[in-house]
Amino acid sequence: MIQLKTKEEIEELRRSALMVGDVLAEVSKHIKPGVTTKQLDKIAEDYIRSFGAIPTFKGYCGYPASLCISINDVVVHGIPGERVVKEGDIVSIDCGVTLGGWVGDSAYTFALAGVEDEVMKLCRVTKESLYIGIEQCTVKQRLGDLGFHIQDYCQSFGYGVVRELCGHGVGRRMHEDPSVPNYGKRGNGTRFREGMTIAVEPMITLGKKDVFFEADQWTCRTVDHSPAAHYEHDIAITESGPYILSSFDKIEEAVKTNINLEQI
Ligand code: MF3
Ligand code: CO
Repeated sequence: MIQLKTKEEIEELRRSALMVGDVLAEVSKHIKPGVTTKQLDKIAEDYIRSFGAIPTFKGYCGYPASLCISINDVVVHGIPGERVVKEGDIVSIDCGVTLGGWVGDSAYTFALAGVEDEVMKLCRVTKESLYIGIEQCTVKQRLGDLGFHIQDYCQSFGYGVVRELCGHGVGRRMHEDPSVPNYGKRGNGTRFREGMTIAVEPMITLGKKDVFFEADQWTCRTVDHSPAAHYEHDIAITESGPYILSSFDKIEEAVKTNINLEQI
């Protein structure tokens, strides 16, 4: 069942969503060759707790960390550990924060200096596809329109659109109805309604779309080991169109001042 939110509730959700952007911005200051994903996770957890907020992912279905950190051919749900970030890597960092009972969930893929041009382009196109999907979030459109436009745009570059994982409703819980696929048919699926709040999160591969899960049941990798990018925003559907609740502004400000990172 889709839980519609009032304007006041949407503003509360926005506070959580904006905090995720603050966390990702803070974490991004520490991304450099040699840092372990576990170190980045600790920075995020401490930062989240310093605001009296809760890292939503930690303990969710047994997930052991506050961030998902997914490098190169890891699409999503990479578990922080001893893995070291290297020059030329792309690093998706996904974070959830619970504040005042509302869950913000947002992700950004960072590119380390030395990244190959075609991988940089994958990141750029994936980020663009997120906004193309968000443009469809009006009361005139349906979930299938969002999925169609993300899929159509990404496939026009020959990229793969991951099917096994989708965006989702977001609110008092991290995963609410509806499921928000990054593929679909125009005019199909649930119509958007004022007060719906969803997380849109295209997961796009440079090669084939097929993925598998590692034995840890979380780490999701491309079968052909091609790199994958992932960006996620929380949005609300309003009478005047999509309202983006999370923000990449602080992240992108921080990226500008980190010489180890390329601007996407
Ligand atoms: N943004 C991801 C999602 O929507 C994060 C979930 S990771 C988990 O599903 F560990 F918390 F499950
Ligand atoms: Co999500």
